[in-house]
Amino acid sequence: MQMGARTAVSSAVTKVQLLGRNRERSRAELKDGIANFYDKSSGLWESIWGEHMHHGYYEEQPQSLEEHKAAQVAMIDKSLEWAGVGVDAASTPKTGVDVGCGIGGSSRHIARKWGTKMQGITLSPKQCARANELAAEAGLADKCSFQVADALEQPFEDNSFDLIWSMESGEHMPLKQQFVGELARVCAPGGRVLIVTWCHRDLEEGEESLKPKEQRLLAAINKAYYLPKWCSVADYVTYCQEAGLTDVRRDDWTDKIQYFWPAVIKSSLSGRGIRGLVRAGPGIIRGALAMLLMVRGFKLNLVKFGLITARKPDDREAEPEPVLSPLSSSRMPY
Ligand SMILES: C[S@@+](CC[C@H](N)C(=O)[O-])C[C@H]1O[C@@H](n2cnc3c(N)ncnc32)[C@H](O)[C@@H]1O
Repeated sequence: MQMGARTAVSSAVTKVQLLGRNRERSRAELKDGIANFYDKSSGLWESIWGEHMHHGYYEEQPQSLEEHKAAQVAMIDKSLEWAGVGVDAASTPKTGVDVGCGIGGSSRHIARKWGTKMQGITLSPKQCARANELAAEAGLADKCSFQVADALEQPFEDNSFDLIWSMESGEHMPLKQQFVGELARVCAPGGRVLIVTWCHRDLEEGEESLKPKEQRLLAAINKAYYLPKWCSVADYVTYCQEAGLTDVRRDDWTDKIQYFWPAVIKSSLSGRGIRGLVRAGPGIIRGALAMLLMVRGFKLNLVKFGLITARKPDDREAEPEPVLSPLSSSRMPY
């Protein structure tokens, strides 16, 4: 082959490779990738950080890993409180589903707090097995159970749970509208949906999409963490309304989580962290490096830590009082 032709072929191959790398993953690739990512990384995470795989909620700068872990528990309590869950007897859930449950830390915490019967779903078989094991060890096997299932096609009947809890799993969902639709479907009338998730900033008036620079940064994060296209908190509000939910509220807690990523980066550079990363393999090392991209995303005001809550209307509440007919003798006081 002539030199010129060879160069042309090689440049075409490079272009195709780049295209291949930059294209969005299919739903099946995402599911496998997420399951594999958490199968491989959850043991290492648990060995350093314990049972919660989400950000901490910080009132002040923590001084130790124990304080970071306490901040993770505070994240659960504060977000439940913000959503008005458990503030009185009527809002205290008897049943709940933990959508994207990790190793079940939130479920066990909520079960201990209120005696709520929790069911969790995750794509990772290893997380599921560990979640059930930890529930049994904690004496909570009758309150918490976990299974491998897809949040986009949940194995539950309509109207099943008082509390729909999704802590940092929404960002993994390729079809966010369908995801919210499923959350609304399995929520019992009068029950509450609470989504805590990574979002991109709301688009400004007149903007149709994020800036190319912002899109490139999110694409790099997606590659490392098996994430699909992001949406904004405003998009979630729309999806909740479209799903027939009411009392939709939102918040932005980006400033409450600021100490988390630097601490995770520090822990992954410890001896145990580095040894664990090497054992877990290149995909997990890429995830660790992508932490720097997340920090950059927060600094650029692009990545937001969003909360969305909404209620499923209860038709019975709307039923009018029975009107007493003056001709109905059985209702007459004489
Ligand atoms: C960052 S972890 C959060 C775990 C847990 N909520 C916590 O706070 O400890 C994300 C979780 O979402 C789950 N997940 C992602 N996509 C999912 C899907 N389509 N269906 C069910 N679970 C999913 C993962 O398997 C993982 O357990």
